[in-house]
Amino acid sequence: MKKELIELRVNGRSHELAIEPNKLLLDMLRQDLQLTGSKRGCDDSSCGACTVLVDGITMLSCTLLAASCEGQEITTVEGVSERGGLAAIQKAYGDWGGAQCGYCTPGFIMTVKHLLAENSDPTEDEIRAALSGNLCRCTGYSQMYQAIKAAIDAEQRGMAAVK
Ligand code: FES
Ligand code: FES
Repeated sequence: MKKELIELRVNGRSHELAIEPNKLLLDMLRQDLQLTGSKRGCDDSSCGACTVLVDGITMLSCTLLAASCEGQEITTVEGVSERGGLAAIQKAYGDWGGAQCGYCTPGFIMTVKHLLAENSDPTEDEIRAALSGNLCRCTGYSQMYQAIKAAIDAEQRGMAAVK
């Protein structure tokens, strides 16, 4: 199949890539850019393990054509760390045991990042609604929600310190 040249930005870096028009964004990230944080956990858009941000909006990279992202800014879990250190949500996951096998974790982290960008003080119901498209087979969700709440607290303390 004839390849197309596309330009896009991933985690703040510009890329020009020759890709097949039917290549999925998830495969482009994992195969062409070796960004293997985003995972394929299903075949039918139901698990959220492949979640990335496209121009700041959560998208399932397993069902999105890479070519359709021409000119857009993609953020993957590899781009979440802040100033070379762990983001609050990454640190909280470690502190609270939010991950077991960790396969779902990158997708959850991207969804939480989007949630907190839209709403810095979400209620419990808003957190659960935001995460309803991400599935975890291991944790029972309890430590994960503790980690997310801890990250929200940490971000709010950080914002208070800046004021
Ligand atoms: S791998 Fe994309 S939703 Fe499951
Ligand atoms: S930690 Fe294993 S699937 Fe979520």
